[in-house]
Amino acid sequence: MVLLAAIDQGTSSSRFLVFEADTGELVTSHQIEVRQLFPAAGWVEMDPMELHDTVVSCINKTIEKLENLGITADEIKSVGVANQRETSIVWDKSTGKPLYNAIVWLDTRTSPLADEAISRTQSKSKDEFREKTGLPIHPYFSALKLKWLFENVSEVRKTYEDGNLMFGTVDTWLIFKLTGAYVTDVSNASRTLLLDLHKRKWSTQLCEFFNLPMEILPEIRSSAEVYGYFRNGPLEGVPLSGCLGDQQSAMVGHQCLNAGQTKNTYGTGTFMLCNIGTRPIISKNGLLTTVGFQFGADSPVVYALEGSGSIGGNVVRFLRDNFKFISDAKEMEPLCRKVQDTSGVYFVPSFTGLYTPYWDSTARGTILGLTQVSQKEHICLAALRAVAFQSAEMIAAVEQDLEHGTKVTTLKVDGGMIANKLFNEIQADIMGRDIVTPKITEISGWGAAVAGGIGAQQISLDEFLSQSSEASRYTPQKDDTWRSAELARWKEAVKRSCGWAQ
Ligand code: G3P
Repeated sequence: MVLLAAIDQGTSSSRFLVFEADTGELVTSHQIEVRQLFPAAGWVEMDPMELHDTVVSCINKTIEKLENLGITADEIKSVGVANQRETSIVWDKSTGKPLYNAIVWLDTRTSPLADEAISRTQSKSKDEFREKTGLPIHPYFSALKLKWLFENVSEVRKTYEDGNLMFGTVDTWLIFKLTGAYVTDVSNASRTLLLDLHKRKWSTQLCEFFNLPMEILPEIRSSAEVYGYFRNGPLEGVPLSGCLGDQQSAMVGHQCLNAGQTKNTYGTGTFMLCNIGTRPIISKNGLLTTVGFQFGADSPVVYALEGSGSIGGNVVRFLRDNFKFISDAKEMEPLCRKVQDTSGVYFVPSFTGLYTPYWDSTARGTILGLTQVSQKEHICLAALRAVAFQSAEMIAAVEQDLEHGTKVTTLKVDGGMIANKLFNEIQADIMGRDIVTPKITEISGWGAAVAGGIGAQQISLDEFLSQSSEASRYTPQKDDTWRSAELARWKEAVKRSCGWAQ
C-alpha cells in the first residue's frame, strides 16, 4: 500500500492527513484548532511556534493512530503542504525563532501603508501592478505586512543588518522548520505582491517600490518536487515534496486541472478558483490572477482567476464565539431550518473589510432589517445567505472575465460549511448553478498529498485523474427573477457596509 500524506495548516486549524494513493481514501488524520489573536480592531495575528507545534503534534498523533490500525509510518512515501496563504512570518536564521507574531492574511493594519503606496504610483491606482502581479495593492498580500514589520519591529531591521533575517509565508516557515530548506512554491509566491507572474521570479521593480530587500526572500520552486527530507520524528527521511497554497491545493484536489473548471472552498474565508490554463488573464472585474500549480520544475505553470472572500466559516465561528447563538457549528442547520426565511434580515459580516469584487478594507459588518419578530434563527440564516451572495458575485466576475462568453455551469465546493446541506441548497438557489460536493471531504489536504506524491514520483497525474470525485449534486430550485431581486437587495446592504471604518 502506498500512502501519501499532507500537512494542512489553515487559519482555523492544523491537520495532518494520510491518504491511500490509489483511491484518495483518508486512512487517518488528526486536527488541532489554532488560536487567532486580535490585539487591536482589524489586527489578526497567530503564534508561529503554535503553527509549527500543532503541525508536529498532528503528525505524531496521526502516526499513533496509523500504528493502531496496524500500519507503520514507513508506508508514508511523501508529504505535501497546503497552507493558509499571505500570512507573513519573520525569523532569525541562527536561532530559528520568530521575531514577531505571524501577521495573518485577514489583518488590516497595513491599510495606511497601502494608501501611501497607491499615492506613490504613477496611476494613483491600486491596480498599478495588476498586469505584472495579478493583484491590487491591498493589505491582504504579504509585501505590505513585511514592510510593516521592517518599519515597526526593531528586531527585524537589526536581524536583517546582522544578515540573519528570514521571511516566509506559512509554507516556507514550516518547510524550513521541518527540513531546513528555505523555499516557497510558485503558487504561494504569487500571493506576496512581489512575484512577476509572467516570469515567475521575484520582481526587482516591486521589491524596490516597497523598499524590501530581495535577498531575504526564499527560493521559488515548483509545487511538486523534493524540497528536503524530514529531519527528525516519526517521518525522519521522508521527502517533503509538494507545496501549494491551500486554495490552489483544493483546486487540485477537486481535479480542476483543465481550463474552465471551477471550485469554491468555504474555509475561514471563501475562495473561488477558476482554472484558466497556461496564459494569465488579468481581471477587469475585481478578481485576482494567481498561479494555480506547477507540477515539476520543467512543467508548464497553470494559472487561475480567483474570487477571494473575507466572509466564510469565520461567520459561523463569530455566531458561536461572539453572539453565542450556537455552541457548535453543527447546530447551524437545524437552527436555520426552523424558519422559512430571514424575515427581511440581511447580514453583511465584513468584519475585516470586503475583498472580491469590492476590495474595501474599510467595510465593516452590519445587520439590516431587524424588526420585533427577528430571532437568532433569522440572523443565522442571513449569515449563510451572505456567504452564498458573496460567491454569486464572484461567479459573475469570473464569467465577465472569461473570453467567448464561457459559463461556469457547475461549481465544485468543499470546506467545513458544506456539511450543512441547507447551505448547499442556498448556494444552488442564490448562484443558479449546480453545486457538486466531493467524495473526499479533506480536499485541500488531498491536493497537497497528490502534489507531494507527484513530486516524489509515487503517483502520476493520469492515475490521479482516473479516480471519480462527485458525491452529491444540488440543483437550483429558484428562478432567475427571484435570484436577481435577492442579489440586488444584498448589494444594497453591502453599500451600507462599505467605507464604514474610514
Ligand atoms: O488566502 C487565505 C487563505 O489561504 C486562507 O484559507 O482555509 O485558512 O480560510 P483558510
